[in-house]
Amino acid sequence: MQITDQITELLTKKVSPDLERRQIQAMIERPKQIENGDFSFPVFQLAKIRHQNPAEIAQNLAAEIQDPLFEKVEAKGPYLNFFLNRKDASSELFSQIDQALGDYGFNNDGQDKEVVIDMSSPNIAKPMSMGHLRSTVIGNTLSNLAKANGYHVDKVNHLGDWGTQFGLMIAAYKMWGDKPIQDYSIDELVKLYVRINQAAKEDESVADEGRRWFKMLEDGDQEALDLWKIISESSLKEFTDIYERLEIDFDAYTGESFYNDKMDAVIDLLKDKNLITVSQGAEIVDLPTLLPDSNLPIAMIRRSDGATLYMTRDLATAIYRKDHYHFDQSLYVVGAEQREHFAQLKAILKLAGFAWSDEMEHVSFGLITFNGSKMSSRKGNVVPLVDVLNSASQLALEQIEQKNPDLSNKKEVAEAVGVGAVIFNDLENDRNLTIDFDINEIVRFEGDTGPYVQYANARIHSILRKAGSFNLEGGLSDDQSWEVVSKMLDYPNIVKRAFDQRDPSIVAKYLLSLSRQFNSYYANTKILVEDDGLNARLTLIKSVSTILESGLALLGVKAPQEM
Ligand code: ARG
Repeated sequence: MQITDQITELLTKKVSPDLERRQIQAMIERPKQIENGDFSFPVFQLAKIRHQNPAEIAQNLAAEIQDPLFEKVEAKGPYLNFFLNRKDASSELFSQIDQALGDYGFNNDGQDKEVVIDMSSPNIAKPMSMGHLRSTVIGNTLSNLAKANGYHVDKVNHLGDWGTQFGLMIAAYKMWGDKPIQDYSIDELVKLYVRINQAAKEDESVADEGRRWFKMLEDGDQEALDLWKIISESSLKEFTDIYERLEIDFDAYTGESFYNDKMDAVIDLLKDKNLITVSQGAEIVDLPTLLPDSNLPIAMIRRSDGATLYMTRDLATAIYRKDHYHFDQSLYVVGAEQREHFAQLKAILKLAGFAWSDEMEHVSFGLITFNGSKMSSRKGNVVPLVDVLNSASQLALEQIEQKNPDLSNKKEVAEAVGVGAVIFNDLENDRNLTIDFDINEIVRFEGDTGPYVQYANARIHSILRKAGSFNLEGGLSDDQSWEVVSKMLDYPNIVKRAFDQRDPSIVAKYLLSLSRQFNSYYANTKILVEDDGLNARLTLIKSVSTILESGLALLGVKAPQEM
């Protein structure tokens, strides 16, 4: 049982039924000041329920609780402060970390619950951008976190493989194509796409041509379908190369085209509920009239030429997911610019009577800017993700050449460090912030970077290699060690909060601070001295490494043992 759980248990015995176990657990804090102990329990709520003076309650509880786990339990005003018996607690923690085999800090909150995560979802016939990388790595981390909290997860790639843009692509190929479609690289397809977007802006008839081809696609025209299929497959190949490089996989690739045969049913359903209005030949949901307070604009469901839209497909998707996965939570990891889209989507489903629309959540994130400007594939100023990963890997290799020229598997480690740096950078900031991207900054081995965490871990492995074999045992009570131990005691709560708040940065920031804590311990302590504390010190740093590796794995970042 984790130490927080032990304290929760103890308190539950004392104060139930006034407070329940869950409430108590949520109330336990980690004091910032060392003089306030290692854990603390505020009694305000209990005082309210019991109509008693908080300070008095704290006093009484302090007197009642006697347990070998604590050196002392002290009342301070309305707080009950727990001071752990450092030697026992650290030795207990080390053995818990060791025995958990990489699962230390995980819990079962989500037992029997299903989470669907819509993530990555790049658009066919375009290169995957940094924006889709954000969705991919945030989604992947949330998936790992959900699993660490006991949930069952399905990661779904909602590929953008349907819509007017494919009409435009096909129109462009029909107008300008000069070789078989299968001979086009993604780069060439993107050039075609950029060119036709420019042409469509200048000439409405080009845009019409695109719409005409999309309509044919939706109606099952064979030529349109064949071209679409080849374009999709070659894009998908490029995406899967990147996923392999990031070591991220999906439980389903059900893109927008998957819902083509489920559109009529959705539109009929909305009609049955009287939610559809016809306006200039198009079918819309008139949200301003139906929900005047929502400030949501009209949602177009079917255009006057009969073609469906992104929204139509998302309506079908949501219903399909509920039927198919029976989710308890359905997350959409998509850029903040689609906030209104998801608000409309949920509102329409709610109006249609689906109470479960409350379980859908748009997990939004900010833009990635490159040299201060937004990237757009329509304008052509995209930085393809492959190039970013390649340069990161190259920069990492240069640093390894300098720091550790004799390392045997340099290329492999450089890839782990470079790719890890890009992922970590993406996750360490609050997800809704705009990130301006500077590749040189993020691959540095010092500062708030992924390589900094990886390096701390590699350093621990190097010390452990030097030490040779030792017994995992012993506890520590000096202040230096205790600060490291105390940081490790936070980990279970980090794993929990990061998922509950859908916030990978909680894990990333924690890993940075644990690494800093270790580095300062390392700077001030002679670890490898042959005295009777040697075993315990090695056990301590081994435990740190286990947690660093666990946390990096949650983020999808590798942890090389040497770098
Ligand atoms: N393909 C879309 C884009 O790149 C993202 C799709 C997100 N998922 C969804 N169910 N709408 O903007």
